[in-house]
Amino acid sequence: MVNKDKNKLKVLITGGAGFIGSHVVRLFVNKYPNYEIVNLDALTYAGNLENLKDVENASNYSFVKGDITDASFIHKIFSEYQFNGVIHLAAESHVDRSIADPLAFVKTNVIGTMNLLNAAKENWKGQFENKLFYHISTDEVYGSLGESGLFTEETNYDPNSPYAASKASSDHFVRAYGETYGLPYIISNCSNNYGPNQFPEKLIPLFIHNIIQEQPLPVYGDGNYTRDWLFVIDHARAIDLIFHNSEKNKTYNVGGFNEWKNIDLVGLLCRIMDKKLHRQEGASSQLITYVKDRPAHDLRYAIDASKINKDLGWRPSVTFEEGLEKTIDWYLENQKWLKNVTSGAYQEYYKEQYKY
Ligand code: NAD
Ligand code: DAU
Repeated sequence: MVNKDKNKLKVLITGGAGFIGSHVVRLFVNKYPNYEIVNLDALTYAGNLENLKDVENASNYSFVKGDITDASFIHKIFSEYQFNGVIHLAAESHVDRSIADPLAFVKTNVIGTMNLLNAAKENWKGQFENKLFYHISTDEVYGSLGESGLFTEETNYDPNSPYAASKASSDHFVRAYGETYGLPYIISNCSNNYGPNQFPEKLIPLFIHNIIQEQPLPVYGDGNYTRDWLFVIDHARAIDLIFHNSEKNKTYNVGGFNEWKNIDLVGLLCRIMDKKLHRQEGASSQLITYVKDRPAHDLRYAIDASKINKDLGWRPSVTFEEGLEKTIDWYLENQKWLKNVTSGAYQEYYKEQYKY
């Protein structure tokens, strides 16, 4: 979205109370005081307004509680606000939950995205210029890599989990609306994010939580699965750059240039946590417990982020060691946040997922 004169833009950010969304909302609210930032979120188990306490009273920010699966509500919001751009992050995002309940992922990730596309198409009719539908997606749509190679923007889609299939489907619909109706869109596909405010169902925050609590660290299979980790604030920076500077109808891969085998990452986490918690060296690694593997577990993800680097000059700004240290410090300083999100329904989920 080109906005060289910094005119006031009205930007809808969906899923802004979640992990990545809250960092994107914060960046936009602080960096663009002339914009009107509207955060639309259903506040599912993963959404938490505590994530946005520091910006909740900003004059350029407002929150709307709502569900993207509700078509008439979404149409109403579009005609009420007259948005210039959409950054769409709202989704069901956890692979293990998608294995347990795939339909919930179709509802939010596919139907929810369709509702937003339809509302944008109708509300922006005849004025597509200077409008933008920016869809935030994942590298999981590409399936799994072997021991070598990288995902590029040209890699074929080959999703393996219901989560990945639902995101792939939504990506295809976004592109199809661009081709068929001329809706201006951008898609970015990012690798694994980590950082403050991530719900403790994903590997890094779950293991930080369990180390604090001295509970088992459930490593799936043999732990020799590889992910490419990116600090969430660097993803938010990439989203900002792409939103403002990318040409329309393009896709970008975003990644951390930072591959880790799960078991090596867990070892590093254990060593840092032992020091921070003044525990004996090796204490946390005693908690590592190999458990049943995830079905259709993708062996390796790794992103070739050279296009965004070349076109927009983006690179991660922190090393993994720096990012991980900041992340661990945040969780140690925000144990009340952790306690709040792990009470109630979380306990049921945990029992069912890990069966102990
Ligand atoms: P998250 O689960 O932390 O947050 C999702 C947010 O969406 C929550 O605030 C939730 O309340 C909201 N939401 C869910 N269903 C909704 C609905 N029906 N209507 C309105 N709001 C709804 O997810 P995240 O990890 O921050 O991921 C955000 C986006 O980025 C997702 O689209 C995800 O696919 C994508 N992504 C995530 C990662 C990652 O590593 N976490 C990497 C690449 C891409
Ligand atoms: O690649 C981007 C994707 O990264 C995002 O699109 C998803 O929203 C996000 O959840 C993430 O998916 P992963 O499945 O890679 O992330 P997760 O944190 O669930 O798992 C990371 C790795 O750790 C994976 O190989 C599975 C493993 N794992 C995970 C959990 C939760 C374990 O070994 N034990 C666990 O308990």
